[in-house]
Amino acid sequence: MSSPSPNSPDLPSSADIPGPEQLHLRVYPDPFLHRACRALGPPDDNVRACIDRMFQLMYEHRGIGLAAPQVGWNARVFVLNVNVDMPEEGREWTFIDPQIDVAPESRGALETGEEGCLSLPGIRLDVDRHSTITIRATGSDGEPFELQADGLLARCIQHEIDHLDGILILGRVSADQKVAIKGALRELEQPRQQGECGP
Ligand code: NI
Repeated sequence: MSSPSPNSPDLPSSADIPGPEQLHLRVYPDPFLHRACRALGPPDDNVRACIDRMFQLMYEHRGIGLAAPQVGWNARVFVLNVNVDMPEEGREWTFIDPQIDVAPESRGALETGEEGCLSLPGIRLDVDRHSTITIRATGSDGEPFELQADGLLARCIQHEIDHLDGILILGRVSADQKVAIKGALRELEQPRQQGECGP
C-alpha cells in the first residue's frame, strides 16, 4: 500500500482529533483497543500536543511504547522509547502512518519473547515477532523516515503496529497461554468501582 495523501478521504478532519487533555490510558476490555485505526496524515500543532501527551502517559506508566488507540485516539500513530530505566538517555521515536515492509527478505526469522502491555496490566505473554524489520513512517516533524530495527526496538514496533490494527498480544498467543491468564483477564473484565475509597 502507498502512503496516504493529505487529501485522502480516509483522513480525519480536525474535528475528529481530540485535544491532548482528553487522552487517558485505556485498559482491556475497552472497545477502543479492538478497533482498527485510520490514517492520520501530516501532523499539526494539536497532533504534536497529543503526541507529547502520549509520551507523558507512557513515562507515567513506565511503558516503552504506547499507541494512539490505547489513549482513546483513533489514529495510526505510536510513540516509543525503549530505554525505560533511563528514558532521558534513550531515544524518543514517533511513528505516524507507519508501514512495515512485509517482503520476506526484509524481515528476520521469528523469535519468541515475553511482552507486557500497558492496556493489560499484570499480564505477560510469550509472543513471536520478526527479529528484524524495516519500517517507513512520518515523524512528529512531518518528515518521512525509514528505519531498520532489531532486538527490543523491532519487537516493540511490531507490538505497537498491532495496536493500530486493533490486535492485542492476546490475539498472538497459543490457546494454552490464554488458559493460563483466564483469571487475570476475568479480573480486568469486572466493572470498575467508581469513586470507591477505602483503607
Ligand atoms: Ni501494548
